[in-house]
Order: sequence, then structure tokens, then C-alpha cells
Amino acid sequence: MLKRFMNKIQTFLVRQIDQIIEKRLQLAIQDLKDLGIRIIKEKIDVKDFQEWMEEYGEIVKYYDGHNNVKIEKILEHYLVCKCLGIKKGDVYIDIAACYSPFSKILSKRGVDGYEQDLIYKAGINEHKIGGDASLLPVPNNFADVLSLQCAFECFQSDSDIGFIKESWRVLKKGGVLGIVPLYVGKKYFVKAGPKANKKNIKIEKEVKWIWRVDKNLQASFSRHYSPTALKSRVIDYLTEGGMKVEILFFTNLDELMKIYNNQRIYCHFMLRAVKQ
Ligand SMILES: C[S@@+](CC[C@H](N)C(=O)[O-])C[C@H]1O[C@@H](n2cnc3c(N)ncnc32)[C@H](O)[C@@H]1O
Repeated sequence: MLKRFMNKIQTFLVRQIDQIIEKRLQLAIQDLKDLGIRIIKEKIDVKDFQEWMEEYGEIVKYYDGHNNVKIEKILEHYLVCKCLGIKKGDVYIDIAACYSPFSKILSKRGVDGYEQDLIYKAGINEHKIGGDASLLPVPNNFADVLSLQCAFECFQSDSDIGFIKESWRVLKKGGVLGIVPLYVGKKYFVKAGPKANKKNIKIEKEVKWIWRVDKNLQASFSRHYSPTALKSRVIDYLTEGGMKVEILFFTNLDELMKIYNNQRIYCHFMLRAVKQ
């Protein structure tokens, strides 16, 4: 009796949270549209995603230890492959790759893959590029595709703006940049928690802080844009550089969460920009 009651309460709460999330997403989408930003609704092809996971078994294995975000992480890589159209012969850079094997996995399939991160030795060492992504040590028109999975939100200070300007320089004509997830909602804020040292975090003074008292919070810094902050810090610089920008909105993450029970899937938005 008590168990049934608790289940009902849980179902009710989950539905309430879903409704709040949906409402917030719709409000953000409306604000983005009001700012003249192009939004494209995309439905993820679940069968195609599952077939891709079989084909890319190495990426599935790598994210095995990622508990309740395993599917989210794999999905981000699937979306990058599908929505940016990475193909054999492309020069690809996984920006802020950390320890991800993604670029090597693509290289095995004929892509000329590079990985980049602040934590690598500075300069180009074989296919590893070290340093800040806002100052990439590669020539103009070097890459066909640049992507960031679970990374752009970690860029502190003005390195988000710096990287956006750099992406235009580094991409070939027709080249494409992808950022997933793109965190955009009603308010501009930075989320941090016990793993962060607030004194070392560099960010504009005006920004709102959310200090999460949660020892499980992995990222020490995570930037979430409002539609206006996204426009002024990211989209305006891309369009000034002659890039065509669109925000993809994935409409059926709930369907995936029903299939992959207990998994958190939150890549509602992806930014895609093509150099004209
Ligand atoms: C959450 S990890 C990325 C995870 C990885 N992309 C994946 O999909 O598994 C974030 C990474 O961003 C890197 N990073 C933060 N700011 C950076 C910057 N300005 N330039 C390059 N890398 C940066 C950090 O060193 C860290 O490795």
C-alpha cells in the first residue's frame, strides 16, 4: 500500500519536473527566435542511434564507466557524426577532448583526426594539440570539422569568445563547427561546486553564480547562457565572421530516457555553424 503510494508520488513529481523543463525549453526557444536566431527541430532516429552504437563499439566501451550519463555521452558523439557530416578524408579536431578516444576512433575510419586540450603539452605533438582553444597553433583554413562534446561550458574567462573567433580562422570554407550540449536557458549563470576553488575561477563580475553543494558535481565550472548572452558572446562573432549559424533542438530525448531507464539525457540543444 505504502509502496504504491510512494510510486504514485514519484510518478507525479517526475511528470511535474518534465513539465517545468519543457516549459523552460519552450521559453528559451521563443527568446532565441525573438532574437532572430535560427532554430531547427530535429527528431533523433533511435534505431539509427542504436545501429551506430554497434558500429562504434569502442566509444560505447569507453563511456561504460560513466554511470547514469553513459548514453548522454555516446549520444553527443553520435549527433556530432550525423549533424556535422564527418566523412573520410576530413581534417577533424575534437576541441577540449580531455581523455576521449573519439578522434582516434574516427581516424581508424579514414578521418584525419586530431584532439586538443589545455591539459596536453603545448604545441602540436603528432595528433595531439596542446594549449588554450582560443589560440590554436594550426594554420588558417586547416580543418573541415571542429566539435566540442561536453566541453564549451568549461571555458572560463573570455576563452569562449576567443575560441569562437579562432574557429572561423581555423575552418576551411564550407567547414563546420558543432557544440553539444549547448546550455541555453532563461538566465545567464555559472554553476560550480565543492570541486571548484572560487578564487581561481575567472568570469565576468556581473555573472550570476549557482554554488551547488553536491560532492558528486564533476565539472568545477559550467557556463549556461541566456539567449542574449549566447547572442552577444557566441552568435554575433560567428555571423560577423561570415558563418551561418543554427541551433538544433532535439525533440525526443524523453523517448530515449524511456528506453534507457535511469539515464540522464540532456543534450536538448546543439550549435552548428558553417563557414560560408
Ligand atoms: C568535461 S572535459 C571534456 C570531455 C570530453 N570532450 C569528452 O567528451 O569526454 C572539459 C575539458 O575542457 C578543457 N578545457 C577547459 N578550458 C579550455 C580551453 N580554454 N581550451 C582548451 N581546453 C579547455 C579541460 O581541460 C577539460 O579537459
